[in-house]
Amino acid sequence: MAIDLAFHDHIATITINHPEKLNALNSARLRAIFLRFEEASLYPECRAIILTGAGERAFIAGADITAMATMTQEEAFTFGQLGHSLARAIEQAPQPVIAAINGFALGGGCELSLACDIRIAAENAVFAQPEVALGIPPGWGGTQRLLRVVGPGMAADLILTGRRIDAAEALRIGLVNAVYPVGELMAKALDLAAQIAANSPLAVRASKRLMAMNVGPAWEDSLAAEARAFAGEFGSGDQLEGMTAFIEKRKPVFTGEQPA
Ligand code: COA
Repeated sequence: MAIDLAFHDHIATITINHPEKLNALNSARLRAIFLRFEEASLYPECRAIILTGAGERAFIAGADITAMATMTQEEAFTFGQLGHSLARAIEQAPQPVIAAINGFALGGGCELSLACDIRIAAENAVFAQPEVALGIPPGWGGTQRLLRVVGPGMAADLILTGRRIDAAEALRIGLVNAVYPVGELMAKALDLAAQIAANSPLAVRASKRLMAMNVGPAWEDSLAAEARAFAGEFGSGDQLEGMTAFIEKRKPVFTGEQPA
């Protein structure tokens, strides 16, 4: 399976290793990352986890559009739930999780980075929530977590336009904490993880748990509502047109036709 897990002292690094498809995620890869997270977070010596993508072009270029194009609403719900479960596993891992974003972080890629505690990026990173250009809303927590990270106005800009932003803009709006030259990103991620790992693991875990309480009691409900809305768009003329257009490498033409 194309998901690597490596331990270095107290630090686990999980690498999505499917660079030919820019680390886009289908169900099998989502499940494999989930298992890697479980393995890393249950390892007693693990004090910090880094999530990154293999290759020089992408962190994760999103959910696998080819796989999504023909999904029924039920299949899309199951697929969306997988993405949500992984994001929750990252969010609820006892250890801090650092996203080392080495290129495209689009759609689900941006969303999984948002579930991480800290995001740092290489200068070539590109971020977007382009789902509306595919005929669906974000479906792995983006409508909720992006708001928390960059605020409602900027989240609305990014989610409603689907536009791409570069690493410098991501830094300016607070989507990432720092930007480094491409060749330095992993060393910086390991430095950061080592700083965390040098602290009391008990105090670090307690701090992460306490910060998570800031989301409020409706958090799970909001995420569940997003999962339902995401699946509900499958079968619409716009979803079929948006994803077919990507596969056919052309611009989509949307009509707003309701799902059957
Ligand atoms: N799902 C499925 N396949 C994807 C993918 C995705 N999200 N992102 C990239 N790929 C595949 C491409 O289809 C291509 O496969 P091919 O070589 O068999 O044709 C391969 O990865 C390389 O991507 P390509 O599009 O040729 O590279 P590019 O440099 O021209 O463009 C992107 C890069 C990231 C701008 C472009 O691939 C893209 O827009 N991807 C989709 C991003 C997206 O909308 N993600 C959100 C999904 S919810």
